[in-house]
Amino acid sequence: MTELVHTRADLAKARATLTGTVGVVMTMGALHSGHETLLRAARERADHVLVTVFVNPLQFGPNEDFDRYPRTLEADLEVCRRAGADLVFAPSVAEMYPDGQPRVRLDPGPLGGELEGASRPGFFHGVLTVVLKLLQLTQPDLAFFGEKDYQQLTLVRRMARDLDVPVEVVGVPTVREPDGLALSSRNRYLSEPERAAALSLSAALRAGARAADEGLDTTAVLTAAHTAFDAGTPGARLDYLVLTDPELEPGPLSGPARLVIAAWVGATRLIDNAAIRLA
Ligand code: PAJ
Repeated sequence: MTELVHTRADLAKARATLTGTVGVVMTMGALHSGHETLLRAARERADHVLVTVFVNPLQFGPNEDFDRYPRTLEADLEVCRRAGADLVFAPSVAEMYPDGQPRVRLDPGPLGGELEGASRPGFFHGVLTVVLKLLQLTQPDLAFFGEKDYQQLTLVRRMARDLDVPVEVVGVPTVREPDGLALSSRNRYLSEPERAAALSLSAALRAGARAADEGLDTTAVLTAAHTAFDAGTPGARLDYLVLTDPELEPGPLSGPARLVIAAWVGATRLIDNAAIRLA
C-alpha cells in the first residue's frame, strides 16, 4: 500500500509508523524509469521507501521552466505503487515555504559556482536547501540520488559530510534509452529533430571513454569527445564539456575521472556525464 500525504503534520504521523530503516528518493515528479530505478534501489536497501514529489521553486532561475515543468501526480503515484513505495510526500509550495522564500539558504561552497552552478546562478543553493529540509522532514537512514545529476549527487554527499547530516547518501547509475540518451523529465520538451540532436551528448561521452580506454591523454580524450559532439546531428549547442576528478575537485588527473557535459537543444538544457578511466 502506498500512502499519499501533502502536509508535514500528516508526513510526521505516517513516518512514525514506519519501523526499521527508511530510504528516501527525492524527486520533482514526472517520474520515468530513471526515477523508478532509484525507487527499486531504495526498496532493496531499506525496509521502507519514502518518495518526495515537489517542484522546488527555489532551484529555478527567473527565466527557467518552473511554470511549465510537468506535473503528473496521478501517473507518479502509479510508478510509486508499482515500485513498492510505502509513503509519498507531495507538499504544496506554501507547505514547504510557509514564510515565503526562506531567508537562510545553504551555501554550496566553491563547487556550487562551477559547471551547472556557473550557468544557473543560485541553483545549488536552492537544491541543497530543499534537500536538507526534506531530510529533516523525512528523517531517512538512506537517501538515493542519481548519477545523472552528478554534481548534485557530489554536493549532497559533501553537505552530509560537512554538516554531519546523519544519512547515508547512495548514488545510482544513470538509466538510458537504448540509443544512449539519458532519461530526463525534460526530454518530453524535445521535438523529434531535437531528440536526435540530443544524442550528441551521450555520443561525446562514449567517444571520450573510448579514447581513455585506448590509453590517450586528457587532451586527446577531450578532443575525441568534442569531435563526436560536433559530428552529431546539428542542433545541439555546447555549454560545457569538462574532464574532472570523480569528486569534481580541481587538480591533476589520473586513473578514475569524470567527463561531464551540458548542452542546449533548442530551448531545452540537457546534462549528462560518464565515468572515465585515464591511463
Ligand atoms: P529530479 O530531476 O526529479 O530527479 C530526481 C532524482 O532522480 C535525482 O536524484 C536524479 O539524479 C535522479 N534521476 C533523474 N534521471 C535519472 C536517470 N536517467 N538515471 C538515474 N537517475 C536519474 O534532481 C531533482 O529532481 C531535484 O533537484 C531534487 C533532488 C528532487 C531537489 O529538488
